[in-house]
Amino acid sequence: MGASPDRAAALARDAADPLAAAREQFVIADDALIYMDGNSLGRLPRATVPHLHHVVEEAWGAQLIRGWGTGWYEAPQRIGDRLGTLLGAAAGQVLMCDSTSVNLFKVLMAALALRPGRHTIVSDVLNFPSDLYLAQGCAALLGGQHRLRLVPSHDTLTVGADDIAAALDDDTAVVMLTHVAFKSGAIHDMAAITAAAHAVGALVIWDLSHSAGVLPLALDACNVDFAVGCSYKYLNGGPGAPGYLYVNAAWHEQAVSPIWGWFGQHQPFGFALDYTPAAGIARFLAGTPPILALAAIEPAVEQLAGIGIAAIRAKSMALTGFMIELFDALLAPVGYTLGSPRDVAQLGGHVSVRHPAGYQINQALIERLDVIPDFREPDNIRLGMSPLTTRFVDVWEAADRLRRAVVDGHYQAFAAQRRAVT
Ligand SMILES: Cc1ncc(COP(=O)(O)O)c(C=O)c1O
Repeated sequence: MGASPDRAAALARDAADPLAAAREQFVIADDALIYMDGNSLGRLPRATVPHLHHVVEEAWGAQLIRGWGTGWYEAPQRIGDRLGTLLGAAAGQVLMCDSTSVNLFKVLMAALALRPGRHTIVSDVLNFPSDLYLAQGCAALLGGQHRLRLVPSHDTLTVGADDIAAALDDDTAVVMLTHVAFKSGAIHDMAAITAAAHAVGALVIWDLSHSAGVLPLALDACNVDFAVGCSYKYLNGGPGAPGYLYVNAAWHEQAVSPIWGWFGQHQPFGFALDYTPAAGIARFLAGTPPILALAAIEPAVEQLAGIGIAAIRAKSMALTGFMIELFDALLAPVGYTLGSPRDVAQLGGHVSVRHPAGYQINQALIERLDVIPDFREPDNIRLGMSPLTTRFVDVWEAADRLRRAVVDGHYQAFAAQRRAVT
């Protein structure tokens, strides 16, 4: 093993980084804070501030109800189309609306209705629990005939495409997976798993919450049926920002949302007493879109689309690779283990490191050492590196402070008792 990279080496990488200037396009209130949580809540783009100000004062304040005629009404489709350029989705298939959880309910119920007579939903043990709760809830709503089959992980970090494929049969209605695992960051093989699901006659739903905005996606090319995701992580849409959904154009005639709201009706302002779904993706809308929340996302999506996902992924892989290099040099020797795949090609934008005192270390980092990661049970400290705002020197500092939290005993000052939000 070579010498461990020092701080100067990190600064040299920053000096050579073609995306270094992108950080200036964000509000950075405290330049000394090492923010490693852009995968939970992305930073505020500078452009969002005047845009929101404009929408509040000019559009809402001055235009009042006339605002609906100046782009509000079309906002879920317009922003969805722009986001679609980051998802590999042609126009007319993505809506920015509702939350990820609600969108998953909508597309899962729609997908199950497209596969009558089949009763198995296949997912894996690495999926985000909320997605599994949604599947359990859908099964209960449908009378308890459906069951959720969870494919296990052999190494706690990954589930192979072959293992997913082996779990499918002619009772599989839907394969529902999170593309980048929320703890380990492992990437599923979307093309292979989608093809395997289709080979047994099943449909796929991908949760892109940890993928969109940090790695290239090819929903159309992979022939994905449905997808959902959130926009407060790498998409920088703000706390509680609306989610999005994708419905492949091939399903627009047949797929029906289980929430028959007026915005999904074919003529919302016709006020007919019976529901007829709208043509196209609009049928997956439910009610009035949250215009202020959508206004916060639009400049952020615009910014990412303008920079281009290929350059973002290149920086992301350099950041995760650097963190793994530093893990070997600084963290493994003091008792950490790697909670992520080692090959950055198999990894999304975050790296997890594990330690038996992980919860206490996480507290020490936040309270004493000016680093904000997040903690995921039982022992994962998750380090999210948002490519537009995270510097290589931040990665170096985070690794060095993780090391110091252990060797200087900082973590011992914190209780292992969990708080409500970790
Ligand atoms: C992978 C994944 N799916 C679903 C959700 C739930 O999203 P929401 O709470 O916005 O409905 C999250 C939230 O972090 C997530 O990470």
